[in-house]
Amino acid sequence: MRILFLGDIVGHIGIAAVSDVLPLLRKRYAPDFVIANGENATRGRGLSERDYKSIIACGVDCITLGNHYHDRQEIDDYIDSVPNLIRPLNLVGYDKGQGSIIFDVNGYEVQVTNVMGKAYIKNEVSDPIDAFSALLEEKRSDIHIVDLHAESTSEKQMFGYYFDSIVTSVIGTHTHVQTNDAFIMDGGTSFISDVGYCGAFPSLIGFEPQSVIDRIVHNRGKMVIDEDAKKLVCGVVIDIDEESGLTTSIASFKYLEGKEWGNGQSRH
Ligand SMILES: [Fe+2]
Ligand SMILES: [Fe+2]
Repeated sequence: MRILFLGDIVGHIGIAAVSDVLPLLRKRYAPDFVIANGENATRGRGLSERDYKSIIACGVDCITLGNHYHDRQEIDDYIDSVPNLIRPLNLVGYDKGQGSIIFDVNGYEVQVTNVMGKAYIKNEVSDPIDAFSALLEEKRSDIHIVDLHAESTSEKQMFGYYFDSIVTSVIGTHTHVQTNDAFIMDGGTSFISDVGYCGAFPSLIGFEPQSVIDRIVHNRGKMVIDEDAKKLVCGVVIDIDEESGLTTSIASFKYLEGKEWGNGQSRH
């Protein structure tokens, strides 16, 4: 089985980027299931019902969230009525929606879970390892993809090593910067510290760089998304042995304006 995981979709340009490139990714990788993080899809903050529907209409099968899960309060009104939107498992004091959902993919159970880390995260969350261990006691499939939404690479690695051989893959989200460390641990669990983002390029984690400098350094204006910028899509492709539920291969990719785009650049 092959699963694609796309990084945090930032703004409408992020949705447009996914919409543009997903047909190509389907042709190239022939995935059985597509997961995307949607916590920044609505103007960088949260996920409106309308944007949820737009992402699903692109051909995404399941959407995960993160610290921005509640930036659009309307999520309270629709999260329980849709089958494929997953909010962080370990939120304290929020019980709408689900933190883990099992999907039927070609007759196999595929579980997707969204967990938040604690380090440098402002939301009130319970310990991610404790919360995830408790989840496994009650709901557990052999194929299990974890979106680990966290700031710290070491916290993400610790979670990965802790659950090596227990889950299929631990995919880091939230920093919006794709890391160059996709690999398979000794027990067969694949890992990447951060899968990256889908949205405007160039940008400062999805926002127009000068607007972020003005806001943060000079305390003026608003951070904005350049909806006319180039479109970048970052993701990973994961191949899974259905019997063991473990990863047989993982590779990260980036597509800029519909073309595969590596690391580095030269200018003439
Ligand atoms: Fe994000
Ligand atoms: Fe985030």
